[in-house]
Amino acid sequence: MSITRESERYIGLVREENERFFRAVGRRRRYFVDTYGCQQNESDSEILRGLAEAMGYEPASDASGADLIVVNTCAVREHAEMRILGNVGAMSHIKKKNPDLMIVMTGCMMSEGHMRERIKNSFPYVSGTLDTNSHARLPELVWSFLGDRKRRYYFDENRDVLSETEGLPRVRTNGCKAWLPIMKGCDNFCSYCIVPYVRGREASRPSDAVLREARELVENGEKEITLLGQNVNSYRGIDGGFPALLRKINAIPGEFRIRFMTSHPKDAGEELFRAMAECEKVAGNLHLPFQSGSDRILKAMNRGYTASQYLEKLSLARRYRPDLDITSDVIVGFPGETEEDYLATEALVREAGFLSLFTFIYSRREGTRAARIPDDTPEEIIKNRFRRLLSVQDEISRAKNEALVSETVRVLYDGINREGDALTARTSGNRLVSVKADPGLVGSFGDVRITSASTWSLTGEPIRTEAD
Ligand code: SAH
Ligand code: SF4
Ligand code: F3S
Repeated sequence: MSITRESERYIGLVREENERFFRAVGRRRRYFVDTYGCQQNESDSEILRGLAEAMGYEPASDASGADLIVVNTCAVREHAEMRILGNVGAMSHIKKKNPDLMIVMTGCMMSEGHMRERIKNSFPYVSGTLDTNSHARLPELVWSFLGDRKRRYYFDENRDVLSETEGLPRVRTNGCKAWLPIMKGCDNFCSYCIVPYVRGREASRPSDAVLREARELVENGEKEITLLGQNVNSYRGIDGGFPALLRKINAIPGEFRIRFMTSHPKDAGEELFRAMAECEKVAGNLHLPFQSGSDRILKAMNRGYTASQYLEKLSLARRYRPDLDITSDVIVGFPGETEEDYLATEALVREAGFLSLFTFIYSRREGTRAARIPDDTPEEIIKNRFRRLLSVQDEISRAKNEALVSETVRVLYDGINREGDALTARTSGNRLVSVKADPGLVGSFGDVRITSASTWSLTGEPIRTEAD
Protein backbone atom coordinates (compact mmCIF):
# COMPACT_ATOMS: atom_id res chain seq x y z
CA MET A 1 0.00 0.00 0.00
CA SER A 2 2.68 2.48 1.04
CA ILE A 3 4.50 1.98 -2.27
CA THR A 4 1.33 2.69 -4.22
CA ARG A 5 1.00 5.90 -2.21
CA GLU A 6 4.62 6.66 -3.12
CA SER A 7 3.74 6.38 -6.83
CA GLU A 8 0.69 8.56 -6.21
CA ARG A 9 2.89 11.25 -4.65
CA TYR A 10 5.04 11.35 -7.82
CA ILE A 11 1.92 11.35 -10.01
CA GLY A 12 0.81 14.50 -8.15
CA LEU A 13 4.20 16.19 -8.54
CA VAL A 14 4.42 15.53 -12.29
CA ARG A 15 0.82 16.60 -12.72
CA GLU A 16 1.54 19.98 -11.13
CA GLU A 17 4.63 20.38 -13.31
CA ASN A 18 2.58 19.53 -16.42
CA GLU A 19 -0.04 22.12 -15.38
CA ARG A 20 2.73 24.75 -15.14
CA PHE A 21 3.88 23.72 -18.63
CA PHE A 22 0.31 24.05 -19.94
CA ARG A 23 -0.10 27.53 -18.46
CA ALA A 24 3.26 28.67 -19.89
CA VAL A 25 3.12 27.06 -23.35
CA GLY A 26 -0.61 26.81 -24.04
CA ARG A 27 -0.70 23.12 -24.87
CA ARG A 28 -0.63 19.95 -22.81
CA ARG A 29 2.30 17.54 -22.92
CA ARG A 30 1.50 14.37 -24.86
CA TYR A 31 2.47 10.70 -24.42
CA PHE A 32 2.75 7.69 -26.69
CA VAL A 33 3.10 4.05 -25.59
CA ASP A 34 4.70 1.78 -28.18
CA THR A 35 3.90 -1.86 -27.40
CA TYR A 36 5.63 -5.04 -28.62
CA GLY A 37 5.20 -8.69 -27.67
CA CYS A 38 2.38 -10.63 -26.11
CA GLN A 39 -0.95 -9.83 -24.45
CA GLN A 40 0.84 -9.45 -21.11
CA ASN A 41 2.59 -6.44 -22.57
CA GLU A 42 -0.65 -5.12 -24.08
CA SER A 43 -2.12 -5.32 -20.61
CA ASP A 44 0.90 -3.69 -18.95
CA SER A 45 0.70 -0.87 -21.48
CA GLU A 46 -2.83 -0.10 -20.28
CA ILE A 47 -1.32 0.67 -16.87
CA LEU A 48 1.49 2.73 -18.45
CA ARG A 49 -1.10 4.78 -20.35
CA GLY A 50 -3.17 5.10 -17.18
CA LEU A 51 -0.14 6.44 -15.31
CA ALA A 52 0.70 8.87 -18.13
CA GLU A 53 -2.84 10.28 -18.14
CA ALA A 54 -2.91 10.50 -14.35
CA MET A 55 0.29 12.59 -14.61
CA GLY A 56 -1.54 15.02 -16.91
CA TYR A 57 -0.27 13.86 -20.31
CA GLU A 58 -2.69 13.67 -23.24
CA PRO A 59 -2.51 10.89 -25.82
CA ALA A 60 -0.49 11.59 -28.98
CA SER A 61 -1.49 9.80 -32.18
CA ASP A 62 2.09 8.68 -32.86
CA ALA A 63 5.60 8.83 -31.42
CA SER A 64 6.63 11.92 -33.41
CA GLY A 65 4.06 14.10 -31.65
CA ALA A 66 4.88 12.97 -28.13
CA ASP A 67 6.77 14.54 -25.21
CA LEU A 68 6.92 11.20 -23.38
CA ILE A 69 7.43 7.96 -25.30
CA VAL A 70 7.26 4.66 -23.42
CA VAL A 71 8.58 1.68 -25.39
CA ASN A 72 7.27 -1.58 -23.93
CA THR A 73 9.63 -4.25 -25.23
CA CYS A 74 9.63 -8.01 -25.86
CA ALA A 75 12.64 -10.33 -25.53
CA VAL A 76 11.16 -13.64 -26.67
CA ARG A 77 13.09 -13.89 -29.95
CA GLU A 78 16.14 -12.13 -31.33
CA HIS A 79 14.18 -10.84 -34.31
CA ALA A 80 11.80 -8.96 -31.96
CA GLU A 81 14.72 -7.38 -30.10
CA MET A 82 16.48 -6.23 -33.26
CA ARG A 83 13.29 -4.66 -34.62
CA ILE A 84 12.72 -2.79 -31.35
CA LEU A 85 16.30 -1.47 -31.22
CA GLY A 86 15.91 -0.32 -34.85
CA ASN A 87 12.67 1.49 -34.07
CA VAL A 88 14.13 3.12 -30.95
CA GLY A 89 17.15 4.14 -33.03
CA ALA A 90 14.82 5.97 -35.40
CA MET A 91 13.45 7.96 -32.43
CA SER A 92 16.73 9.89 -32.22
CA HIS A 93 15.31 12.13 -34.99
CA ILE A 94 12.28 12.99 -32.87
CA LYS A 95 14.61 13.79 -29.96
CA LYS A 96 16.66 16.13 -32.17
CA LYS A 97 13.52 18.11 -33.01
CA ASN A 98 12.28 18.09 -29.43
CA PRO A 99 15.22 18.05 -26.95
CA ASP A 100 12.73 17.91 -24.05
CA LEU A 101 11.40 14.57 -25.29
CA MET A 102 11.63 11.83 -22.69
CA ILE A 103 12.05 8.26 -24.01
CA VAL A 104 11.52 5.49 -21.45
CA MET A 105 12.14 1.84 -22.28
CA THR A 106 10.50 -0.92 -20.27
CA GLY A 107 9.28 -4.49 -20.68
CA CYS A 108 11.05 -7.82 -20.96
CA MET A 109 14.19 -6.63 -22.79
CA MET A 110 14.95 -4.21 -19.98
CA SER A 111 15.22 -7.08 -17.50
CA GLU A 112 18.24 -8.35 -19.43
CA GLY A 113 21.44 -6.88 -17.98
CA HIS A 114 23.24 -6.91 -21.33
CA MET A 115 20.38 -4.98 -22.96
CA ARG A 116 20.37 -2.33 -20.22
CA GLU A 117 24.12 -1.95 -20.79
CA ARG A 118 23.55 -1.59 -24.52
CA ILE A 119 20.92 1.11 -23.97
CA LYS A 120 23.20 2.91 -21.49
CA ASN A 121 26.17 2.84 -23.87
CA SER A 122 24.70 3.15 -27.35
CA PHE A 123 21.32 4.90 -27.02
CA PRO A 124 22.13 8.19 -25.23
CA TYR A 125 18.76 9.71 -26.14
CA VAL A 126 16.89 7.06 -24.09
CA SER A 127 16.11 8.89 -20.84
CA GLY A 128 15.67 5.86 -18.58
CA THR A 129 14.54 2.29 -18.20
CA LEU A 130 12.06 0.35 -16.08
CA ASP A 131 11.34 -3.37 -16.06
CA THR A 132 8.10 -5.35 -15.94
CA ASN A 133 8.20 -5.43 -12.14
CA SER A 134 8.72 -1.70 -11.64
CA HIS A 135 5.99 -0.09 -13.77
CA ALA A 136 4.59 1.69 -10.73
CA ARG A 137 7.86 3.68 -10.69
CA LEU A 138 7.18 5.40 -14.02
CA PRO A 139 6.02 8.62 -12.28
CA GLU A 140 9.16 8.64 -10.11
CA LEU A 141 11.35 8.19 -13.20
CA VAL A 142 9.56 10.98 -15.06
CA TRP A 143 9.67 13.33 -12.05
CA SER A 144 13.40 12.74 -11.48
CA PHE A 145 14.22 13.25 -15.14
CA LEU A 146 12.18 16.44 -15.39
CA GLY A 147 14.19 17.69 -12.40
CA ASP A 148 17.79 16.90 -13.32
CA ARG A 149 17.79 15.35 -16.85
CA LYS A 150 19.83 12.44 -15.54
CA ARG A 151 19.33 8.96 -17.00
CA ARG A 152 18.20 6.23 -14.58
CA TYR A 153 17.92 2.43 -14.94
CA TYR A 154 15.40 0.90 -12.56
CA PHE A 155 15.55 -2.85 -12.21
CA ASP A 156 14.35 -4.91 -9.26
CA GLU A 157 13.02 -8.35 -9.96
CA ASN A 158 11.85 -8.72 -6.37
CA ARG A 159 9.34 -5.87 -6.43
CA ASP A 160 5.77 -6.91 -5.75
CA VAL A 161 4.37 -5.58 -9.00
CA LEU A 162 0.92 -7.12 -8.46
CA SER A 163 0.22 -5.13 -5.31
CA GLU A 164 2.08 -2.02 -6.53
CA THR A 165 -0.11 -1.77 -9.63
CA GLU A 166 -3.35 -2.92 -7.98
CA GLY A 167 -5.93 -0.17 -8.28
CA LEU A 168 -3.83 2.03 -10.57
CA PRO A 169 -5.86 3.55 -13.42
CA ARG A 170 -5.83 1.72 -16.76
CA VAL A 171 -6.48 3.22 -20.15
CA ARG A 172 -7.95 0.45 -22.28
CA THR A 173 -7.93 0.79 -26.07
CA ASN A 174 -9.33 -2.55 -27.08
CA GLY A 175 -12.97 -1.55 -27.67
CA CYS A 176 -15.42 -4.00 -26.15
CA LYS A 177 -12.71 -6.52 -25.24
CA ALA A 178 -10.62 -6.33 -22.08
CA TRP A 179 -7.44 -7.98 -20.78
CA LEU A 180 -7.60 -9.08 -17.17
CA PRO A 181 -4.23 -10.17 -15.70
CA ILE A 182 -4.62 -12.84 -13.02
CA MET A 183 -0.97 -13.60 -12.37
CA LYS A 184 2.58 -12.63 -13.21
CA GLY A 185 5.81 -14.42 -14.02
CA CYS A 186 6.55 -18.01 -14.95
CA ASP A 187 8.24 -20.85 -13.04
CA ASN A 188 8.29 -23.42 -15.84
CA PHE A 189 11.73 -22.75 -17.29
CA CYS A 190 11.15 -24.35 -20.67
CA SER A 191 14.76 -24.68 -21.79
CA TYR A 192 14.47 -22.35 -24.82
CA CYS A 193 12.49 -19.58 -23.11
CA ILE A 194 13.64 -16.24 -21.68
CA VAL A 195 10.29 -15.37 -20.07
CA PRO A 196 11.01 -16.83 -16.57
CA TYR A 197 14.25 -14.80 -16.47
CA VAL A 198 12.72 -11.52 -17.56
CA ARG A 199 9.29 -11.76 -15.88
CA GLY A 200 10.48 -13.27 -12.60
CA ARG A 201 8.75 -15.75 -10.36
CA GLU A 202 5.14 -16.71 -10.71
CA ALA A 203 2.63 -15.03 -8.39
CA SER A 204 -1.17 -14.99 -8.43
CA ARG A 205 -3.31 -11.93 -8.03
CA PRO A 206 -5.84 -12.41 -5.18
CA SER A 207 -9.17 -13.66 -6.53
CA ASP A 208 -11.20 -10.91 -4.82
CA ALA A 209 -9.24 -8.29 -6.79
CA VAL A 210 -9.69 -10.25 -10.04
CA LEU A 211 -13.43 -10.69 -9.41
CA ARG A 212 -13.91 -7.03 -8.49
CA GLU A 213 -12.25 -5.97 -11.73
CA ALA A 214 -14.23 -8.51 -13.78
CA ARG A 215 -17.50 -7.15 -12.34
CA GLU A 216 -16.45 -3.58 -13.13
CA LEU A 217 -15.58 -4.54 -16.70
CA VAL A 218 -18.96 -6.15 -17.25
CA GLU A 219 -20.73 -3.15 -15.67
CA ASN A 220 -18.77 -0.89 -18.05
CA GLY A 221 -20.13 -2.82 -21.01
CA GLU A 222 -17.12 -4.98 -21.92
CA LYS A 223 -18.27 -8.02 -23.90
CA GLU A 224 -15.18 -10.15 -23.72
CA ILE A 225 -12.75 -10.67 -20.86
CA THR A 226 -9.46 -12.48 -21.46
CA LEU A 227 -7.77 -13.77 -18.31
CA LEU A 228 -4.02 -13.47 -18.71
CA GLY A 229 -1.04 -15.36 -17.36
CA GLN A 230 1.95 -17.25 -18.79
CA ASN A 231 0.39 -20.41 -17.40
CA VAL A 232 -3.11 -19.71 -16.11
CA ASN A 233 -3.51 -23.34 -15.02
CA SER A 234 -1.16 -22.75 -12.13
CA TYR A 235 -3.28 -19.87 -10.75
CA ARG A 236 -3.24 -20.10 -6.95
CA GLY A 237 -5.36 -17.12 -5.90
CA ILE A 238 -8.42 -19.19 -4.92
CA ASP A 239 -9.19 -22.63 -3.46
CA GLY A 240 -9.80 -24.92 -6.40
CA GLY A 241 -7.38 -22.99 -8.62
CA PHE A 242 -8.10 -21.71 -12.10
CA PRO A 243 -11.26 -23.79 -12.78
CA ALA A 244 -12.80 -22.32 -9.60
CA LEU A 245 -11.93 -18.80 -10.79
CA LEU A 246 -13.58 -19.49 -14.15
CA ARG A 247 -16.77 -20.58 -12.40
CA LYS A 248 -16.84 -17.43 -10.24
CA ILE A 249 -16.41 -15.15 -13.24
CA ASN A 250 -19.01 -17.12 -15.17
CA ALA A 251 -21.49 -16.38 -12.37
CA ILE A 252 -21.29 -12.60 -12.97
CA PRO A 253 -24.60 -11.61 -14.61
CA GLY A 254 -24.60 -10.26 -18.17
CA GLU A 255 -23.88 -11.40 -21.73
CA PHE A 256 -20.12 -11.56 -22.16
CA ARG A 257 -17.46 -14.06 -23.15
CA ILE A 258 -14.59 -15.34 -21.06
CA ARG A 259 -11.29 -16.31 -22.68
CA PHE A 260 -7.96 -17.15 -21.13
CA MET A 261 -4.36 -17.64 -22.12
CA THR A 262 -1.99 -19.35 -21.97
CA SER A 263 -2.62 -22.91 -20.82
CA HIS A 264 0.21 -25.38 -20.30
CA PRO A 265 -0.47 -28.98 -21.35
CA LYS A 266 1.14 -30.41 -18.21
CA ASP A 267 -1.29 -28.49 -15.96
CA ALA A 268 -4.48 -28.24 -18.05
CA GLY A 269 -6.65 -31.18 -17.06
CA GLU A 270 -10.10 -32.61 -16.62
CA GLU A 271 -11.18 -30.06 -13.99
CA LEU A 272 -10.46 -27.25 -16.45
CA PHE A 273 -12.31 -28.97 -19.29
CA ARG A 274 -15.28 -29.71 -17.04
CA ALA A 275 -15.45 -26.06 -15.99
CA MET A 276 -15.23 -25.02 -19.66
CA ALA A 277 -18.16 -27.33 -20.45
CA GLU A 278 -20.29 -26.16 -17.54
CA CYS A 279 -19.67 -22.41 -17.84
CA GLU A 280 -21.76 -21.08 -20.72
CA LYS A 281 -19.78 -17.82 -20.92
CA VAL A 282 -16.43 -19.53 -21.41
CA ALA A 283 -15.70 -19.28 -25.13
CA GLY A 284 -15.03 -22.37 -27.24
CA ASN A 285 -11.36 -21.75 -27.82
CA LEU A 286 -8.36 -23.34 -26.18
CA HIS A 287 -4.84 -22.14 -26.87
CA LEU A 288 -2.60 -25.04 -25.86
CA PRO A 289 0.99 -24.73 -27.12
CA PHE A 290 2.65 -28.09 -27.85
CA GLN A 291 6.06 -26.79 -29.07
CA SER A 292 7.21 -30.11 -30.62
CA GLY A 293 5.83 -33.52 -31.62
CA SER A 294 9.08 -35.32 -30.82
CA ASP A 295 9.33 -36.81 -27.32
CA ARG A 296 13.09 -36.43 -27.40
CA ILE A 297 12.83 -32.71 -28.14
CA LEU A 298 9.96 -32.22 -25.67
CA LYS A 299 12.22 -33.66 -22.98
CA ALA A 300 15.10 -31.38 -23.99
CA MET A 301 12.61 -28.49 -23.88
CA ASN A 302 11.62 -29.43 -20.30
CA ARG A 303 7.93 -29.43 -21.20
CA GLY A 304 6.80 -32.26 -18.91
CA TYR A 305 4.63 -34.27 -21.35
CA THR A 306 4.96 -36.55 -24.37
CA ALA A 307 3.34 -36.13 -27.77
CA SER A 308 0.78 -38.85 -27.06
CA GLN A 309 -0.08 -37.34 -23.65
CA TYR A 310 -0.63 -34.03 -25.43
CA LEU A 311 -2.97 -35.60 -28.00
CA GLU A 312 -4.87 -37.38 -25.21
CA LYS A 313 -5.42 -33.98 -23.56
CA LEU A 314 -6.92 -32.68 -26.79
CA SER A 315 -9.31 -35.64 -27.01
CA LEU A 316 -10.34 -35.19 -23.41
CA ALA A 317 -10.94 -31.47 -23.95
CA ARG A 318 -13.04 -32.18 -27.05
CA ARG A 319 -15.06 -34.83 -25.20
CA TYR A 320 -16.16 -32.09 -22.77
CA ARG A 321 -16.48 -29.34 -25.38
CA PRO A 322 -17.07 -30.81 -28.85
CA ASP A 323 -17.33 -27.27 -30.26
CA LEU A 324 -13.78 -26.41 -29.22
CA ASP A 325 -11.45 -24.62 -31.65
CA ILE A 326 -7.93 -25.43 -30.55
CA THR A 327 -4.91 -23.30 -31.42
CA SER A 328 -1.28 -23.89 -30.57
CA ASP A 329 2.36 -22.74 -30.72
CA VAL A 330 5.25 -24.74 -32.13
CA ILE A 331 8.98 -24.18 -32.48
CA VAL A 332 10.95 -25.59 -35.40
CA GLY A 333 14.73 -25.85 -35.35
CA PHE A 334 15.29 -26.46 -31.63
CA PRO A 335 19.03 -27.33 -31.27
CA GLY A 336 19.69 -30.83 -32.54
CA GLU A 337 16.26 -31.25 -34.17
CA THR A 338 16.58 -33.98 -36.82
CA GLU A 339 14.38 -34.61 -39.85
CA GLU A 340 12.79 -37.42 -37.87
CA ASP A 341 11.97 -35.03 -34.98
CA TYR A 342 10.50 -32.59 -37.45
CA LEU A 343 8.36 -35.30 -39.05
CA ALA A 344 7.00 -36.17 -35.59
CA THR A 345 5.93 -32.52 -35.25
CA GLU A 346 4.29 -32.63 -38.66
CA ALA A 347 2.48 -35.85 -37.71
CA LEU A 348 1.17 -34.28 -34.51
CA VAL A 349 -0.10 -31.27 -36.45
CA ARG A 350 -1.95 -33.54 -38.89
CA GLU A 351 -3.56 -35.45 -36.07
CA ALA A 352 -4.38 -32.54 -33.73
CA GLY A 353 -6.65 -30.62 -36.11
CA PHE A 354 -5.70 -27.13 -34.91
CA LEU A 355 -7.76 -24.22 -36.14
CA SER A 356 -4.50 -22.29 -36.42
CA LEU A 357 -0.92 -22.64 -35.37
CA PHE A 358 1.69 -20.04 -34.45
CA THR A 359 4.91 -21.41 -35.90
CA PHE A 360 8.22 -20.00 -34.67
CA ILE A 361 11.78 -20.63 -35.73
CA TYR A 362 13.93 -21.33 -32.68
CA SER A 363 15.84 -18.29 -31.49
CA ARG A 364 18.82 -18.73 -29.19
CA ARG A 365 18.33 -16.78 -25.94
CA GLU A 366 21.46 -16.09 -23.94
CA GLY A 367 21.16 -17.38 -20.38
CA THR A 368 18.66 -20.17 -21.14
CA ARG A 369 19.61 -23.83 -20.88
CA ALA A 370 19.02 -24.54 -24.57
CA ALA A 371 21.55 -21.85 -25.47
CA ARG A 372 24.26 -24.26 -24.26
CA ILE A 373 23.19 -27.11 -26.59
CA PRO A 374 25.34 -27.28 -29.72
CA ASP A 375 23.31 -26.27 -32.76
CA ASP A 376 24.65 -27.12 -36.19
CA THR A 377 21.53 -27.55 -38.34
CA PRO A 378 21.92 -25.28 -41.38
CA GLU A 379 19.50 -22.35 -41.46
CA GLU A 380 18.19 -23.35 -44.90
CA ILE A 381 17.05 -26.75 -43.60
CA ILE A 382 15.21 -25.12 -40.69
CA LYS A 383 13.54 -22.58 -42.96
CA ASN A 384 12.47 -25.40 -45.24
CA ARG A 385 10.87 -27.27 -42.31
CA PHE A 386 9.16 -24.04 -41.27
CA ARG A 387 7.63 -23.61 -44.75
CA ARG A 388 6.55 -27.24 -44.94
CA LEU A 389 4.82 -27.03 -41.56
CA LEU A 390 3.02 -23.83 -42.54
CA SER A 391 1.61 -25.45 -45.66
CA VAL A 392 0.44 -28.54 -43.71
CA GLN A 393 -1.41 -26.31 -41.25
CA ASP A 394 -2.80 -23.98 -43.93
CA GLU A 395 -4.63 -26.88 -45.52
CA ILE A 396 -6.13 -27.89 -42.16
CA SER A 397 -7.14 -24.30 -41.35
CA ARG A 398 -8.83 -23.89 -44.71
CA ALA A 399 -10.76 -27.16 -44.32
CA LYS A 400 -11.86 -26.16 -40.80
CA ASN A 401 -13.13 -22.82 -42.05
CA GLU A 402 -14.82 -24.30 -45.13
CA ALA A 403 -16.71 -26.70 -42.89
CA LEU A 404 -18.49 -23.69 -41.36
CA VAL A 405 -19.91 -22.40 -44.66
CA SER A 406 -23.75 -22.23 -44.53
CA GLU A 407 -23.68 -22.61 -40.74
CA THR A 408 -25.14 -20.04 -38.37
CA VAL A 409 -22.76 -18.81 -35.69
CA ARG A 410 -23.00 -16.34 -32.85
CA VAL A 411 -20.43 -13.56 -33.11
CA LEU A 412 -19.27 -10.56 -31.17
CA TYR A 413 -18.91 -7.57 -33.49
CA ASP A 414 -15.62 -6.08 -32.33
CA GLY A 415 -14.60 -3.45 -34.87
CA ILE A 416 -14.43 -2.16 -38.43
CA ASN A 417 -11.99 -3.66 -40.94
CA ARG A 418 -9.01 -1.76 -42.32
CA GLU A 419 -10.73 -0.94 -45.60
CA GLY A 420 -13.68 0.49 -43.67
CA ASP A 421 -16.25 -1.46 -45.67
CA ALA A 422 -17.17 -4.28 -43.26
CA LEU A 423 -17.34 -5.13 -39.57
CA THR A 424 -14.95 -7.58 -37.95
CA ALA A 425 -16.54 -10.18 -35.71
CA ARG A 426 -15.38 -13.17 -33.68
CA THR A 427 -16.97 -16.57 -33.21
CA SER A 428 -16.91 -18.30 -29.85
CA GLY A 429 -13.83 -20.18 -31.11
CA ASN A 430 -12.25 -16.79 -31.91
CA ARG A 431 -12.46 -17.21 -35.70
CA LEU A 432 -12.44 -13.93 -37.57
CA VAL A 433 -15.60 -13.18 -39.59
CA SER A 434 -16.01 -10.26 -41.93
CA VAL A 435 -19.64 -9.05 -42.05
CA LYS A 436 -21.20 -6.18 -44.00
CA ALA A 437 -23.42 -4.71 -41.30
CA ASP A 438 -24.37 -1.51 -39.48
CA PRO A 439 -21.33 -0.06 -37.61
CA GLY A 440 -23.72 0.57 -34.73
CA LEU A 441 -23.53 -3.16 -34.03
CA VAL A 442 -19.89 -2.95 -32.85
CA GLY A 443 -19.83 -4.05 -29.22
CA SER A 444 -22.85 -6.33 -29.52
CA PHE A 445 -23.53 -10.00 -30.20
CA GLY A 446 -25.45 -11.26 -33.21
CA ASP A 447 -26.06 -14.33 -35.33
CA VAL A 448 -24.50 -14.57 -38.78
CA ARG A 449 -24.65 -17.09 -41.57
CA ILE A 450 -21.23 -17.99 -42.96
CA THR A 451 -21.15 -17.46 -46.73
CA SER A 452 -17.51 -18.13 -47.62
CA ALA A 453 -14.23 -19.22 -46.09
CA SER A 454 -10.48 -18.86 -46.57
CA THR A 455 -7.45 -20.12 -44.66
CA TRP A 456 -7.45 -17.19 -42.28
CA SER A 457 -11.00 -15.93 -42.07
CA LEU A 458 -14.68 -16.25 -42.83
CA THR A 459 -17.26 -14.02 -44.46
CA GLY A 460 -20.82 -13.91 -43.19
CA GLU A 461 -24.11 -12.08 -43.37
CA PRO A 462 -26.29 -11.01 -40.46
CA ILE A 463 -29.37 -13.07 -39.83
CA ARG A 464 -32.39 -10.86 -39.44
CA THR A 465 -34.43 -11.56 -36.37
CA GLU A 466 -38.08 -10.63 -35.92
CA ALA A 467 -37.03 -7.69 -33.80
CA ASP A 468 -35.11 -6.10 -36.74
N1 SAH B 1 3.60 -18.77 -21.69
C1 SAH B 1 3.18 -19.01 -22.97
C2 SAH B 1 3.78 -18.11 -24.05
C3 SAH B 1 5.24 -17.99 -24.12
S1 SAH B 1 5.93 -17.06 -25.42
C4 SAH B 1 3.38 -20.46 -23.21
O1 SAH B 1 4.02 -21.12 -22.46
O2 SAH B 1 2.84 -20.96 -24.16
C5 SAH B 1 4.96 -17.53 -26.83
C6 SAH B 1 5.57 -18.57 -27.71
O3 SAH B 1 6.82 -18.14 -28.21
C7 SAH B 1 5.87 -19.90 -27.05
O4 SAH B 1 4.74 -20.70 -26.93
C8 SAH B 1 6.90 -20.49 -27.98
O5 SAH B 1 6.29 -21.24 -29.01
C9 SAH B 1 7.57 -19.26 -28.58
N2 SAH B 1 8.93 -19.10 -28.07
C10 SAH B 1 9.34 -18.90 -26.80
N3 SAH B 1 10.69 -18.84 -26.74
C11 SAH B 1 11.15 -19.02 -28.00
C12 SAH B 1 12.45 -19.06 -28.58
N4 SAH B 1 13.56 -18.96 -27.85
N5 SAH B 1 12.54 -19.24 -29.92
C13 SAH B 1 11.43 -19.37 -30.69
N6 SAH B 1 10.19 -19.34 -30.18
C14 SAH B 1 10.04 -19.16 -28.86
FE1 SF4 C 1 8.19 -19.72 -21.54
FE2 SF4 C 1 7.51 -22.18 -20.93
FE3 SF4 C 1 6.95 -20.20 -19.23
FE4 SF4 C 1 5.64 -20.39 -21.53
S1 SF4 C 1 5.56 -21.87 -19.86
S2 SF4 C 1 6.51 -18.55 -20.66
S3 SF4 C 1 7.18 -21.17 -22.94
S4 SF4 C 1 8.97 -20.92 -19.79
FE1 F3S D 1 7.69 -11.04 -25.10
FE2 F3S D 1 7.77 -10.67 -22.54
FE3 F3S D 1 5.54 -11.44 -23.67
S1 F3S D 1 9.34 -11.63 -23.74
S2 F3S D 1 6.24 -12.62 -25.41
S3 F3S D 1 6.54 -9.53 -24.01
S4 F3S D 1 6.29 -12.04 -21.67
